[in-house]
Amino acid sequence: MSSKKERFEVTPELLKENFIKIYGDKAQSGNSNEIRMFASPARINIIGEHIDYNGGKVFPTAIDKYLYCAIRKRNDSKIIYNDLFFNSTYTFDTNDNFAFDQKNDYANFLNGILSCMKKQGYKFPCGFEVLIASNVPSAGGISSSSALECGFAWAVSETFGFNISRKDIALMGQQSEHEFMNVNCGIMDQYIIATGKKDTAELIDCAKVEHEYVPLKLGDYRFIVMNTKKKRRLADSKYNERRAQCEEGLAILKAAAIPLTDLCSLTPARFEECKAVIKDEVILRRVRHCVTENDRVLRAVEALKADNLQELGKLLYESHNSLRDDYEVTGIELDTLVNAASRQKGCIGARMTGAGFGGCAIALVHKDEVEQFIKNVQSEYTKIVGYEGGFFACSSGDGVREL
Ligand code: GLA
Repeated sequence: MSSKKERFEVTPELLKENFIKIYGDKAQSGNSNEIRMFASPARINIIGEHIDYNGGKVFPTAIDKYLYCAIRKRNDSKIIYNDLFFNSTYTFDTNDNFAFDQKNDYANFLNGILSCMKKQGYKFPCGFEVLIASNVPSAGGISSSSALECGFAWAVSETFGFNISRKDIALMGQQSEHEFMNVNCGIMDQYIIATGKKDTAELIDCAKVEHEYVPLKLGDYRFIVMNTKKKRRLADSKYNERRAQCEEGLAILKAAAIPLTDLCSLTPARFEECKAVIKDEVILRRVRHCVTENDRVLRAVEALKADNLQELGKLLYESHNSLRDDYEVTGIELDTLVNAASRQKGCIGARMTGAGFGGCAIALVHKDEVEQFIKNVQSEYTKIVGYEGGFFACSSGDGVREL
């Protein structure tokens, strides 16, 4: 594992300065290629949890917290990675196979992308050097890893003129998670990071892998990200187990000749009619979460379009309860944050966001109450959990882009 350096808020200017310090400017390095700079956002999922891999509709937004990637072609075939916040330098070669190796730490996320590119027939005519710096808390549940994968993939694709589409960048990020990182994730995180647009959220149809932008008009309300600061790796968590349970539920329903393509193609009414065929109580609850969550997404989007933020907030709470009771992916940390949030003045909704088991929750809070809200929730969280959480208000952001 590479050792960490102290964190600070990084800007593109700082990144460029440090890139030159590490790799030299044109004169020092004898490299006349341009340094190109890219930004890749974090995301919050407003609603629609654990249903992207069940053919559901999800409703995330990219946020204004970015990972930055500076990249420059080299005159030889070396590939060099540095990260402003980690001490290790990793050096590879364009002719490498890019296999996963535990000791490569964050470089695995980058090599996973290069490995996918190679498999798809993309060729690197020369090497390149990279400096990464992220303002997204790592393993914090707002998709630091997808921001890294998709930001890097976009940077490499643009640098070498591969012109890979945003959708294909997302699919490549997902493929890398599956084949390289051993996380059987859905498409939501990579898709929103690749295609996000400021001032909108996206209703993503994960069965068709397409989306609709929905204006994110929150009036006097703001989304607050509440970080449990409980570290977890999805590869070690129950994420893959939940996926397998959903597949089991789907197989039971199909075996009973119930016509459906995936769990989220069932309406709540249809689910009530056919649920008796699922005898296993755990599987039944997992399926119920998927069906009801998909329905909540559709209602949440309608509420937002109708400027009914109170209704949106109510659906956030319902979603959290379903993830706590039926899907069982919350835990003491996330439940404490959401419970504490729900008691605060100006808060109209809250829920865990992302995979759960730690990570982050979000709350929809009146802008005049944000400061007090954070103070109160922090104090309650610390009292119960024994250490501090992390809090910040966010706005929507843009998907991967060159600066
Ligand atoms: C993680 C995965 C996503 C999605 C969420 C849960 O963030 O990467 O694909 O399944 O969990 O909604």
